[in-house]
Amino acid sequence: MINIKNEHEIKLMEDAAEALKAALRAIEAEIKPGVTTMHLNNVAEEAMKKYGALPAFKGVECPYRGGKPYKWAICTSVNDEIIHGIPSEDVVLKEGDIVCVDLGTFKNGWCSDAGRTYGVGKISPVCEKLIKVARDAFFAGVDQAVVGNRVGDISNAVQTYVEKQGFSLLREYQGHGIGEEMHEDPGVPNIGRKGTGPRLQKGMALAIEPMICEGRPDVYVKKDYWTVATKDGKMTAYYENTIVITDREAKILTLD
Ligand code: MF3
Ligand code: CO
Repeated sequence: MINIKNEHEIKLMEDAAEALKAALRAIEAEIKPGVTTMHLNNVAEEAMKKYGALPAFKGVECPYRGGKPYKWAICTSVNDEIIHGIPSEDVVLKEGDIVCVDLGTFKNGWCSDAGRTYGVGKISPVCEKLIKVARDAFFAGVDQAVVGNRVGDISNAVQTYVEKQGFSLLREYQGHGIGEEMHEDPGVPNIGRKGTGPRLQKGMALAIEPMICEGRPDVYVKKDYWTVATKDGKMTAYYENTIVITDREAKILTLD
């Protein structure tokens, strides 16, 4: 079932998003060689709490049998890791790495969800391009996120743009509706056909999240039951925001 949000509910989601944006600013200020991914987790959690929000990822059930619920405030996926990487004191960022950071906040009963990929120091041209294409793919999707279009119009715009740039998209993971729950209907795939899927209506809140690969989009899950990485070991990037469908262009809640 797709939950349509009224103006008051959207305001509450914006409040949750304020805390998320503060956490992103805190993370961004700390990205440099020598920093651990656990440090990024800690500064993000502190910023969320300062804004009266809780980390929404804590307690999320593991999608794989045998895995435990997620225990951290953010996901940090380095280089060939694309999503759901677990922050660690043992993962020290070094010059040339790229790190996908994914985070969610929960405040007064409402959620927000976003992700970015950051370069550490000087990075290779292909990494620069991956980061740019992930971001631009999100915006290609957002351009289609208007009343009357369908979810497949968003998916198709993301797919068309990314493939034209010579990169591929994860098929097994997708964006989603969001609101009182982190994951609501509808699913928002990054691959799809125009004119298919649920129709977009004013008051729908969606997380659009292109997850892109330099090489083949074939992935595996590491022994920690969470981290998703490419089988060919090539680089990946990811970009996500929570948006709301309005009468005009979509409102992006998690972007400064
Ligand atoms: N942000 C992810 C998503 O967009 C969810 C992360 S799962 C978690 O769907 F367990 F790590 F929280
Ligand atoms: Co999401």
